[in-house]
Amino acid sequence: MQNLKLLISVYFLQVVETMLRITKTVLCKNQPTPAAVLIYCQRFSTEAQLEPPQPCVKTSIPGPKTLELLKDLNSLQQAGSVQLFADYDKSIGNYFVDADGNEFLDAFTQISSVPVGYNHPELLKAFADQHNLKSLVNRPALGVFPSKDWPEKLRNVLLSVAPAGLNAVSTMMCGSCSNENAYKAVFMWYQTKQRGGKIDFTPEEMDSCMVNQPPGAPKLSIMSFKGSFHGRTFGALTTTRSKPIHKLDCPAFDWPAAPFPRYKYPLSNFERENHQEDEKCLEQVEDLIEKYKKADNPVAGIIVEPIQSEGGDNEASPQFFQKLQSLCKTKGVALIIDEVQTGCGPSGKMWCHEHFELPSPPDIVTFSKKMLTGGFYTKSEFKAPHSYRIFNTWMGDPGKLILLERVLKVIKQENLFSLVQKTGTVLKDGLHKLENEFPNLINSVRGRGTFLAFNVCNTELRDKVNNNLKKNGVLGGACGETAIRLRPALVFAPKHAEIYLDALRKTLKEL
Ligand SMILES: Cc1ncc(COP(=O)(O)O)c(C=O)c1O
Repeated sequence: MQNLKLLISVYFLQVVETMLRITKTVLCKNQPTPAAVLIYCQRFSTEAQLEPPQPCVKTSIPGPKTLELLKDLNSLQQAGSVQLFADYDKSIGNYFVDADGNEFLDAFTQISSVPVGYNHPELLKAFADQHNLKSLVNRPALGVFPSKDWPEKLRNVLLSVAPAGLNAVSTMMCGSCSNENAYKAVFMWYQTKQRGGKIDFTPEEMDSCMVNQPPGAPKLSIMSFKGSFHGRTFGALTTTRSKPIHKLDCPAFDWPAAPFPRYKYPLSNFERENHQEDEKCLEQVEDLIEKYKKADNPVAGIIVEPIQSEGGDNEASPQFFQKLQSLCKTKGVALIIDEVQTGCGPSGKMWCHEHFELPSPPDIVTFSKKMLTGGFYTKSEFKAPHSYRIFNTWMGDPGKLILLERVLKVIKQENLFSLVQKTGTVLKDGLHKLENEFPNLINSVRGRGTFLAFNVCNTELRDKVNNNLKKNGVLGGACGETAIRLRPALVFAPKHAEIYLDALRKTLKEL
């Protein structure tokens, strides 16, 4: 009887909330069609918390509460990068709700780091389990006192989705520190090779490293590509080449930067030119390896993004990556693939580099963002030869692995990679239509899965399109000089793609 009463009151509350939300939606500037309202009612009766049927922007953007909060935050820190304040209690699925109650379709998802949307029920349940809750509360120094289930967790979660051939994994705090530590692993591997496999150090090495001099602190380099982004810690920052603002005022290593292909679009019309572009870039990679060897600053590793993300969503062909790998092997240079932004499914495969059909595994793959924990996979020979050399206090967070385990379960249960491919096709076809409709405004549609981008004809207009998209209820991201990138969650469905495309068409028409 008690349970029945509870059920009736929960049902009553749901009905009231439904009515309130429908009233609110009807009052919204972007009024839904009656059909959309109906679908919403039908779905709401079966699910606990549902996405709104479409974006709802009720205030100017930024709204009054957001402006107030910005003023407050600015008094405490540099808050120039803050766009909106979220209401994470109300954000749901593909919809981000801001402090002013505006509901945005989120095609940017916290810089591409929300794998299965906001408040996914499977993730919300994760810490109802007492063991999981205690794993969250008692955060270990993972390199010294991991929990007794840590090896099993690594095996069942991270290694279950490891790129083929990479059997070792280290967890880290973020994308930058994953790359930073991957570079250290490469330098240790390189120096061990130089010592003929010995792992002992000479007294001279021990002394000289303490004053940052060779041979203990050797002159070695990591090559990256112009336009790349690998993070903001010091080693990572040296390899970051996307925008001056990231690098200004910070000392950096003398490490080489090779050109990354810049393709002409549509790809099918420029096959020959784009192939030549690949060859030109690869030639320079080889020249730089030789040049730095001669200058006694040999290249120990090359880091590359499968699609250069922050730098403008620049893509390169599978052939480019295959030849790059072959060059690395010939020259004894380690290949690091930075999947921080591309990893965990947005390209339609778990790892974007799987699209390249490399003849053998890369040496290291770094990850973070949608994986919820930072870290890197390596071949076993890249495991550090001594303890405490790839190390810090937390080295990640078991709580994030608990969430990732659930994310991977949701991906499987909801067949999300196939959804990404399906939605990606709707989005890409729609973007192609729009570039034909507005050829003076947008061009160069590109990407894989829902990891897509297009260029706007100049930077000023790009910023305007991105801003106005927000006013029309859609969050998108800018990257490079003129690109707008799409970085939706893996649960972005064709119906969301249609809403995105409608908002973009409206935005372009209004210019
Ligand atoms: C490809 C890539 N690598 C590394 C990073 C750095 O990651 P984090 O911001 O977590 O340090 C980013 C961040 O955007 C990235 O896109």
